[in-house]
Amino acid sequence: MTVAVRAALVGVGPVGDRIVTCLRERSFPLAQPLRVMATRRRREVLGGEEFDVQETRAELLEGLDVVFFAGREGAKGASVEWAETAINNGAYCIDNGSDFRLDPQVPLVVPEINMGTVSEQTKLIASPNCSTIQLVVVLAPLHRAAGIKRVVISSYQSVSGWGQAAVEELERQLPQCLGDEPTEYDPSIFARPIMLDCIPHIDRFVPDGYTKEELKMVNETRKILDEPAMPITATAVRVPIPIGHSESVNLEFERPITREEAMEILGEAPGVVVIDGPTDDPNALEYRDAPEELQYPTAADLRQDEYKDMVLVGRIRQDETVENGLNLWIVADNLRKGAATNVVQIAEGMLERGLLG
Ligand SMILES: NC(=O)c1ccc[n+]([C@@H]2O[C@H](COP(=O)([O-])OP(=O)(O)OC[C@H]3O[C@@H](n4cnc5c(N)ncnc54)[C@H](OP(=O)(O)O)[C@@H]3O)[C@@H](O)[C@H]2O)c1
Repeated sequence: MTVAVRAALVGVGPVGDRIVTCLRERSFPLAQPLRVMATRRRREVLGGEEFDVQETRAELLEGLDVVFFAGREGAKGASVEWAETAINNGAYCIDNGSDFRLDPQVPLVVPEINMGTVSEQTKLIASPNCSTIQLVVVLAPLHRAAGIKRVVISSYQSVSGWGQAAVEELERQLPQCLGDEPTEYDPSIFARPIMLDCIPHIDRFVPDGYTKEELKMVNETRKILDEPAMPITATAVRVPIPIGHSESVNLEFERPITREEAMEILGEAPGVVVIDGPTDDPNALEYRDAPEELQYPTAADLRQDEYKDMVLVGRIRQDETVENGLNLWIVADNLRKGAATNVVQIAEGMLERGLLG
């Protein structure tokens, strides 16, 4: 029997756009054209296809199996306003936003790790923050192997993590920064001009000096790994690139784990690509006289088709300053594996379990 799913999308920013792309690329079995909604009606091109975007209304959330939420967060945000209505009408809701992620009744899902937390009873399912998703895809297999004792993360996050307006802000600042005048900027997006700078400020500050983005990485990672007390500390930095988050991660383990073991474990881990070991870049020898050079991933690699939905890991090395320590460099597309791909994979997992269609 062919299964087909009646689906809707609420929110048409960069994440909504990538959800349309991922549904098409992955041949997700839609029963009818995707129903697309936002705050107001208009025509909009998403994933290269033109849609009649409707203003979100209760009657448009009827007769659906699943609703993908890619709206803004908070009291006036899409899932806070509309998820309950969709659920009461019989649909599952998969939410990209942060509003319900830490609710104990709501599974926080990365399919490579904890798809088993989704059931017929969990009508609302949350997808983690982009920086958390790429982190836990790598941490989970290492934790199973050697028991993580402590995590220190520094993230280097692209502007698209803030939304479409931030991508446009970066584009506006690009020509300005070549001139002599001070760069004009919109302080409602970033606190300073982002072009040619790194800003250690993502989301709002909380009283102890951390930012909410840093706390999301801490709390969401603990929930997904089911380790509520795991010592984790984070610094989140906005960097002037359009797409792709990078993370420098320091790990301390209960048991010894070598670079080679970590590379083997990660080489077999679902969703992970290890880019490490001797470089095949001919320029290393020809121009840099550096035969010792190793290969490593950067955000630019995410443009390659084979990497666009994967979490890339490199710079895997022993940290000799602690008993069982490793350092890693982790890169992923924040709009795809960090958001859209993850929610479509959740829906695929639900199809496999007979929860959809
Ligand atoms: N960007 C990332 O890297 C990333 C990663 C993981 C998770 N997320 C989360 O994914 C969500 C979407 O991100 P984005 O970057 O695509 O955001 P965005 O560019 O701000 O777009 C938000 C979209 O949501 C719609 N919307 C807002 N409030 C709504 C409401 N009450 N009812 C219906 N529609 C509403 C907006 O409608 P209008 O177009 O009509 O204004 C807009 O289309 C956010 O919750 C974000 O935190 C983002």
